[in-house]
Parts: sequence; structure tokens; C-alpha cells
Amino acid sequence: MTKSWPRVTTMRPIRVMGSLLGCGDVGRKGRFVPDLRLFYPRGQRKHSPLQKPILPRHSRREHTAFTLPIFPFPWLRYRISLIESSKPQRQVRPLEEPQVLQMDTDFARFLWGNIWHLMRNGYPAQKKDADHADERRFNLLYPPRRHKSADAYSPSKWPRRNYPMPLPPLTEAHARQIAAQHYGLQVQAQRLPGELDANFLLSAGEERYILKVGNADHDPAELDFQNRALAHLTALPGVPRLIPARSGEEMPIVEHDGQRHFIRLLSYLPGEPLVRCPDRSPELLRGLGAFLARLDQALADFQHPAMERDIPWNLAHAHRVIRPRLHAIPDPVRRRWVERALERFEQQVRPYLPTLRAQVIHNDANDHNVLVAQGQVVGLLDFGDMLHAPLICEVAIAATYALLASPEPLQAAAHLVAGYHQVIPLTTTEVALLDGLIRARLAVSAALSAERALIEPENPYHQISAGPVWAALERLDPVPAEVAHGVFRQACGLPAFPSLAAAPAQPGRDEQTILAARRRYLNPTLSVSYRRPLHMVRGQGQYLYDAEGRAYLDCVNNVCHVGHSHPAVVAALAHQAALLNTNTRYLHEHIITLAERLTAHMPGDLSVWFFVNSGSEANDLALRLVRAYTGRQDMLVLAGAYHGNLSSLIDISPYKFDGPGGAGAPPWVHTLSMPCTYRGRFRHAEDPVAAYVEEAAGIIRQVEEAGRGVAAFIAEALMGTGGQVVFPPGYLAQMYALVRAAGGLCIADEVQIGFGRVGTHFWGFETHGVVPDIVTMGKPMGNGHPLAAVVTTPEIAASFVTGMEYFNTFGGNPVSCAVGLAVLDVIEEQNLQEHARRVGEHLKARLKTLQERHPLIGDVRGSGLFLGVELVRDRETLAPAAGEAQAIVEAMRERGILLSTDGPFHNVLKIKPPLVFNQEDADRLVEELEGVLQEVEQPA
Ligand SMILES: Cc1ncc(COP(=O)(O)O)c(C=O)c1O
Repeated sequence: MTKSWPRVTTMRPIRVMGSLLGCGDVGRKGRFVPDLRLFYPRGQRKHSPLQKPILPRHSRREHTAFTLPIFPFPWLRYRISLIESSKPQRQVRPLEEPQVLQMDTDFARFLWGNIWHLMRNGYPAQKKDADHADERRFNLLYPPRRHKSADAYSPSKWPRRNYPMPLPPLTEAHARQIAAQHYGLQVQAQRLPGELDANFLLSAGEERYILKVGNADHDPAELDFQNRALAHLTALPGVPRLIPARSGEEMPIVEHDGQRHFIRLLSYLPGEPLVRCPDRSPELLRGLGAFLARLDQALADFQHPAMERDIPWNLAHAHRVIRPRLHAIPDPVRRRWVERALERFEQQVRPYLPTLRAQVIHNDANDHNVLVAQGQVVGLLDFGDMLHAPLICEVAIAATYALLASPEPLQAAAHLVAGYHQVIPLTTTEVALLDGLIRARLAVSAALSAERALIEPENPYHQISAGPVWAALERLDPVPAEVAHGVFRQACGLPAFPSLAAAPAQPGRDEQTILAARRRYLNPTLSVSYRRPLHMVRGQGQYLYDAEGRAYLDCVNNVCHVGHSHPAVVAALAHQAALLNTNTRYLHEHIITLAERLTAHMPGDLSVWFFVNSGSEANDLALRLVRAYTGRQDMLVLAGAYHGNLSSLIDISPYKFDGPGGAGAPPWVHTLSMPCTYRGRFRHAEDPVAAYVEEAAGIIRQVEEAGRGVAAFIAEALMGTGGQVVFPPGYLAQMYALVRAAGGLCIADEVQIGFGRVGTHFWGFETHGVVPDIVTMGKPMGNGHPLAAVVTTPEIAASFVTGMEYFNTFGGNPVSCAVGLAVLDVIEEQNLQEHARRVGEHLKARLKTLQERHPLIGDVRGSGLFLGVELVRDRETLAPAAGEAQAIVEAMRERGILLSTDGPFHNVLKIKPPLVFNQEDADRLVEELEGVLQEVEQPA
């Protein structure tokens, strides 16, 4: 948490080397613009990366200096201005030793590309245009992103206030003079440290004051925000008061050296800064919590136009600060701590923040700002980081500072939380987010200091000052989130285990009574998982909670794609349900927006959408489309496949018609061998793909010999009920070519695997490089809400226009579409596809090592977070270990992990968790599975 404002000066053109990050730094409050000066003596100019844009404009000048205040960091506003200087080079004093600037290659290219663009299109010739030009230049630097959610590099949200702010060059003599002139005070003046303002302690006998000389660039609206807040807090002890000048002005202006500075005089608060107080008793920390809560109570009804501030210290945006700096942390172990804190924040904290109460908060109760006297907190300084944010951020930030200095970090934080909670009771959700917010705040400090250390490697201060932050991260990293959560809950007088507390009371319906009622009122074809059925009452993220409050890691529900009860999805649903829900016969934006957003994910001209209510409805409609287009009925299907519960789909689902109670394939349905690389019929063939395709070609010939033709081939690209079956490369492409050559269409059933689950691609079919004629999707699309769809080409869709209306009462209603849009937002905002790829790869690799130790595991396969573990009794004969698979599923359930089986022999453990499933969850799954495998392999 240090401050440093380095200036990098290079006498040579920028050299693009290596991957060192930057050309400057961000000050403690993010207001600093690194000042990169490039001087190009005439002779060297031809080597300059700026050569192209500069030469036409400046070639007649003798010397040209370009000052490029640059923010190479996405969370700050960029401001690039090119200032011509006709000063001869020798008159320009380098600020420090000349340094060769090193930049990340991509960034450098991006930067120079933009400068070039800027000079051609937007550089203001006239000074008076500068303000507007700033905006113009800014837009040039960052054209708008395609999606509103892609915020990491979207500076449009950052205010235009991060301009260079050297401290005002005023001396103690100036301060005395100002005090006399504006306040009528004859004082002694003593300079105090300050980051943005030049601060002075003024003493006149017993009376003391603080004089703040504002930076010339300081945004008056922000100063006014602080002043109004101080005025609002007048009745609260321990907060400085603003003293008006003799003229009555709150902020008189002084001119110095051609610059205008706002002046403020504040009352002096007695007390020692907490930083000088070695003894931090629990009472002191509780007192600090209570003090902050009283401050927040007083600020609760305070509003100001400048309160929405995007500064790096806005904890609600921690991810924007941390993620772009991860690579600045050289030590992989430390980087992993920060990554874990970030992951936790993005997945388990950030989604909930918009649902919390928010208000103006102080936002910076650090040890320098808190004043203590006789073991009690007596005051709070520095309102410069105030902003409007979730209230819990106030607690989290103060708790982070409290734990930094403590040998018992969690306890220290808990004392502060307890004190706060006594004055402002925290909600259970706020308490649940505390630990994640604290880790995120530590990660912000760690990432910023790592970056500074990278930029100024010769300055040991960066390493030293970050020491406590790294130490805290190291100590907290292994502490399970549940433990920290429990500590904070106890601090708030709640039972340590949230799930126990959160389970709603069950009005007399235990498992047995529910089971009996099911037997009476529901058809027994509805199966129940597990020998000891589970009675779930709540879901959150990748967890389900039973009626007794026990948490289960959900490794199998691919429907709650972005996490159970995701708050953004729930909020979208509730909001739209409260507004309007009706059918598609009225015009509404949502359905169109959803179609547009989804089309952006589709290849080819797949652009005409039908919104329906289930995967089955989608596949049934796909059958109607192929029949309308081809005028044929015969279908090619894969053995073991399942496409839905409607009668039309039982007909094309070998999983059903060849399974218990099934009546075999109807005459128009032709089953192809499952092209499984592990167990498939032609797996040993010299060219398995050719063998499978030849089998299909034979069937097509038979259909044609019978005077008919094949209407379509339907397949998942990674088979679900088939047992997470991976096709040999080239299979799908060759099958599509074969079927199309025979006049048929190709349907991709993405009901299970779509929406980024496979990690490398958004859709499963993309992993095979094919473009289907029709794509059906469902399960993940509504995160549990009934929402599904069919997309096809305009040509195929046109054949469906026969005069008969297609009406679907619920399909495409505004509520469902709002949910669909929210799901897409979350996938993008939380980068869940990439997350699925990364976590899936890790999990698959760990499962494969398990396979080496356990002969029961015959195969580990799949992609992203759609994985299968096939269990066999004999790796030669591949005898399916179905009983063992079932025993494992049951044993894992007892250990709090939900799994299930799939495949024609029910011997494949299927793993398809909500995509928020993370690396720690993966590790836990593998470790528990290993334990269970040992039990199953060596029965007692
Ligand atoms: C591949 C596939 N297609 C279609 C369906 C049917 O979807 P729904 O149950 O939403 O009707 C399923 C359901 O399990 C499926 O796995």
C-alpha cells in the first residue's frame, strides 16, 4: 500500500522488449498519470516507432519533444496528449536517469497504433479545443466494446480525473501567508505528508488547524463531494470540520506559479494515528468497527452527484485492478494466492454485490487515518477515497487493515466486524461475502505493489511495504472459506455454520413423509437419486444444501450452468416477472435481443430462432423442420443417444427405445454404432472413422433402395447419455458430408453441452469444425428456468412457412428471454467458458493420474467441464463395472459430493458441474474419489 510516482524518461525511442509491463505507475489513489517523455533528437528520429505519424507533421522542426502521459492500465482513464516542444533538446532536463522503456509487445503495438490513429484523426490543433479533443482522443484509443459486460478494458466507465497531479509546490511560508490572508490567522506552519494535496499543520498557540492546498488538477466536484460530506457529518464527533474563509467561501482559490489551487482549512483532531499504537486490543478494534458504523449511519442519507467514483480502491471492482496485473507477480506461488482470491471474488462475491445495500462510505480506514487516544478510537481522517459502494465494503476494507497488523488475522478482523455489527447489524449475505472481499482487498494491494516493484525494481521500498500484505495472503490462503465465514458469523452472534442456520424450518415433512407422498401422488417412473434420497432446500453456486443444512458439492447439474440461484439471473427473472410476462404476439425487445446475442455465437447463416420451453420441444421442432424441408422422415441416430421425452423423441432415442420398457426402433429410425474411441465397435479398425462412415453409408443406401431418403442425422458432438463419448477426429465432418450428399440435414443437439461447457468453444459442434443445419439447445440456457431454442438457416426456416401458425404459449416470453440474456451476461462477465477450459483441464489431468493408480478406471475423457470416468473390471475385456460405479456414487454422496452415472452400461461417472466449479472443488472431488476408490477396490 505504498505510494510512488515514478517518472520514466527515455532519451531513445521506445524499445519493445520482453514482457515487462509498464511505463509508469499508479499513485495510491489512482490519480497519477505516468509521465513518459520521449525525446527525439533529429538524427535518431528515423528509428522511432513514432516515425510514421510524426515525420509529416514535424519534420521541419529542429527538435521535438513529445510528452505522453500514459495510463497503460485498463482501470484508469487513458489520456494521451502529444505536446510539441520547440525547446532544443539540451534544455530539456531528464527527470531521472534515462531508462530504456520495456513494454509488453502487444500493448506497445496497440498503443502506437492508437497514437498513430490519434494523430491522423483527432489531435487538436487549437488549445481551446482541448477539452472536447480529450474526449475525442479518448474514444479513439478505446473504441466501444461489443458487449456491455466486457468491462475489463472499458475505460469509458472511468471518470476523466486521472490527470497528472504533482503536489502543489507551496512552502510553509506560503501556508502562513494563506492563513493570514484568507483566514485572518497568524500561525506557525509545518508541512505534513500528503498525496494529492499539500498539507500543513498550522498552530496558533493552543489552536491548531490543517491547511490543505489542493492540487491544481483536482476535480472541484470531488472536492465538493468531500466538503458536503464533512458538512453532513458536523454532528458526529471525531470528524474534521471545514472552516470557511473570511470571505465566507469554503474553498478560496490561490494562484501560484500560474496555477490555481483550492484551499481548505480543517479543524485539527487530537489523537495519535493508529499506526503508532502497538497495542490493538479487541476493545480497540471493536471500537473502530463501531466508530465506522456510526459514521456510515450518519452517511446513510447522504448523496452527491460525484459519489459514483470508479477508482482502483473501489472494492466492488477489485477484479479490474487485479486481473491485468497478475502477470506482474513473478513468484508463481504468490500469484496463485492472488488468483485464488480473484477467482473467489469473481465467482462468489461479485455477483452478489448488486443485490446489497449501498451508500456513501469512507472507504479507507487505514492505520494512518484512524486516530486513537487512551486506547479508544477518537477520530477519522482523509475522506478522499469516499465513494458510493456496497456498505459491506467499508467493513471489509477496515477489517483488512486490522488483520494486516495482527498475529491473529481472522480474530482481529472479527473484532472489528463485531463492533460494526453491534451498531449496524449486517445481513447474513453481507457476512457471507466478507471473507471474499477481504481476500480481494489484499489481492488488490498485492497486485498493485507487484506492479510497482516491476516498474521500479531498484526501489526496495515496494517489496518491504508489501510484506504484511503478502504475509496476510499467505496465512489466509489455506484457510477454508467456510472457516473464515464461520468466524465472521460468530462475530455477529450467528451460528458458525450458515447452512444449518439458513435451512428453512421444515413443517413436519421429513424425507420419509415426502417419499410416501410422492408414492401416493406422483408416478413411480419419476426416479429418486441415491439409496438415501436427498431432500434439497437451497442452492448456491456449485453447492446444494439439504434440509439439515449439509452442503453438497454439485458435480452433476449442468442445468444450473452459471451456478445455482445465481443472483443476477434471479434478479433478471424477478424484475421482468414483476413488469410483464406475455406471449410473442406482442412486440417485445427481449426476444429480439436474445436472438441477436445468440446469433453472434453461431457460425454460418444460422440465424432464424424458435424459442421453446425444453430440450425436448426443441428437438421435436427440429424434426418438424427437417420434414418440412426435405419432405422425408428417415432419421439417422447414434446408439445410446437421448434426445428428449416426447413420443417423437423416444422414437429417435436408442437410449430409450433400446432400454428398459423400450419397443425398439421404429422402421424410419436407423441406429448407427456409437463412434466411441474407447469402446466403439470399430475402435480397432485401421481407420475407425472410415468404418463408422461406411456403416452409415450402407444404411443410407438401404433407405434409398427402399425408395425413400434420409431426412436428417441428429447427434450431440460429445454424447451425454452415451457416457461422455468422444468421437474420433473427423467423424462428424465426414458424417455431415455423407448425409448432405444424400440430401439430408444435420442437427446438432447442444442441449447438454452448449453455452461454453466444453471450454475450448461455445458450442460442442465447433470442436469438430462443422456447421450444422439446425442446432437445438436447452438446459443451461435458462440456468434452471424452462428455456430452450432451435436455430436454423433462413432457407430451412422458409420451408416451414406453410400457412400453419407456429404458436408456443410460453416459448420466448419476456421473462424467459430476460433470464436467457442474464445467463449470457454472466457467462461473459465471469468468463465461464475459459474458466471451464482451465478447471476442466486441471480436473482431467488429475483424474488421469488417478487412472494410473486405480485399475478400475478404464478411461477418462471429455472436454472442459463435461467429463466422463469409465469404470471397467478388466481393462482388456472392458467389462463394465456398473455395480462399482453405483457404489462410488453412493459413497461420494455420503462424503458430500454429488455424482451420477451415464452410458449404456451405467458405468461412466459423469462430471458436469455448474461452471463456477473451481480448481479447489476439482481437487476435492479427486481426493474424495481416490478415498472412495480405495474403499471400493478393497472391500473390508
Ligand atoms: C442431449 C439431450 N437432448 C435433449 C434432451 C431433452 O431435454 P429436456 O429434458 O429439457 O426436454 C436432453 C435431456 O436430458 C438431452 O440430454
